[in-house]
Amino acid sequence: MKVSVSTIALAELDVDVLIVPVAMEHVADGLEELVEAFGTTVERGRIDIKGDTGDVLVLYPDSGTAKRIVLVGIGEMSECSLEDLRNAAAAGAASAAKVKAETVGISVPDTDLDGDDAAQALVEGFMLGSYRFERYMTQGEETVPAQRLVIQTSDQDKQVRRGADRGRIVAEAVASARDLVNLSPDEKTPTLLSKAIEKSAKKTGYEVTVWDKALIEEEGMGGLLAVNRGSQDPPTFSVLEWKPEHARNSRPVILVGKGVVYDTGGLSLKPTKGSMDSMKSDMAGAAAVIGAMEAIAKLELPLYVIGLIPATDNRPGERAYVPGDIVKMHSGKTVEVLNTDAEGRMILADALSYAQSFYPELVMDIATLTGAAVVALGEVAAATMTNVEKGAEERLAAMVSAGQASGDLVHPLPMFDEYNEQLKSTVADLKNVGGRAAGSITAAKFLEHFVDYPWIHVDIAGPAFLETARGYRPVGGSGFGVRLIVQFLQDYAEKKR
Ligand code: BES
Ligand code: MN
Ligand code: ZN
Repeated sequence: MKVSVSTIALAELDVDVLIVPVAMEHVADGLEELVEAFGTTVERGRIDIKGDTGDVLVLYPDSGTAKRIVLVGIGEMSECSLEDLRNAAAAGAASAAKVKAETVGISVPDTDLDGDDAAQALVEGFMLGSYRFERYMTQGEETVPAQRLVIQTSDQDKQVRRGADRGRIVAEAVASARDLVNLSPDEKTPTLLSKAIEKSAKKTGYEVTVWDKALIEEEGMGGLLAVNRGSQDPPTFSVLEWKPEHARNSRPVILVGKGVVYDTGGLSLKPTKGSMDSMKSDMAGAAAVIGAMEAIAKLELPLYVIGLIPATDNRPGERAYVPGDIVKMHSGKTVEVLNTDAEGRMILADALSYAQSFYPELVMDIATLTGAAVVALGEVAAATMTNVEKGAEERLAAMVSAGQASGDLVHPLPMFDEYNEQLKSTVADLKNVGGRAAGSITAAKFLEHFVDYPWIHVDIAGPAFLETARGYRPVGGSGFGVRLIVQFLQDYAEKKR
């Protein structure tokens, strides 16, 4: 989709659909500007819209060049958030898709928000709301995606253009992540996933090295190898790198993404319904890191960033690891496996301990780690935790604020030392499960044993894969985490100015 910015008058914008976000105050005021531009259809239609969030009204203008106008409500002007704009643009996208619009305009409404942020949110909402995954559909009508999106503004400032570009780059990165998550498991074995990463790297301008099984063995990644034992397909470990000359950090920020390409639970087999059936999404953390790297490279973010993606499936094959196995991890610590379905922490622990070799400034892991996170926060938000390493409070605050700004909501959970009790093993340094109580926290406490630097953990088990569509997020892979990471790193770079 081509995205541009125009300062042409509303009435002169030549598009199939013109989306006009309107606040409740605008509607109450009589929408004079719109009446002037498009005629009395606006006046007559006004009785059917209040301007509240969720309101949508399609009108056929008496004058002006646009073929249709779609009024979308954004609530009260002074309270309008970026998320309101994303949702409004997505509602407009739904109307545009219905009439197979090829060219679409969106006007930037009067709000208290910055012009560039507003433009970014509108582009994100429109593009993400237009997203369809039709790779496997052989029947029925194909949707015709819009070819061109024009952001209309009276603001001459080039900031709006910058915001619109940012929106397009970020939305494209989220779409890549969604595509990877939605892909059928047989098309994303660890090797195929690594190939996809190589393609993504070439396309967007970051570097990648892929380790094969032999290298993973040499490096002693016992956790990753244990999980892989029941599989027909070898594991991979991908190292992604964005190292611009203008980087503001000399020690890297590292992103670790859980790449379990399919989680059957292993010998501790999952039930199918409502459990195993969505487990192609167990690489959504990896997808978020890949999408984030794409956006980081395209935005030319002035930060040295490394991505680490351990990838395997978790299956109950003949040689599968078993409950009772004691595994020597990459760090040298030993883990008593008491449930083979707690596999994510086994592969993440190895990646986190390998991350140490870069002397990182900060490491963030992102993973569909625990069902308990779904119980706690649902599909609405991810859980986030951090270690007590210096700056813990600020790290959490920065995460929550990046969540608010990006729309990828996160909420903190505590990391009290007391939870370590639940991980004590009688035969090894640790066991891989901590019981039902506080499942998301004990998973994070487990990982904490493998980190030795400032660290943030993000459990996206809830929002990564949706059962019900919400706003600009369709059913299936949501691409959650891409916007969170990008926002967090933009803020992080900003603080280093
Ligand atoms: N991939 C799952 C977690 C998950 C559950 C993600 C639901 C998305 C939706 C993870 O590997 C897992 O199986 N976790 C277990 C851990 C338990 C055995 C300690 C869980 O949460 O049940
Ligand atoms: Mn599992
Ligand atoms: Zn899993």
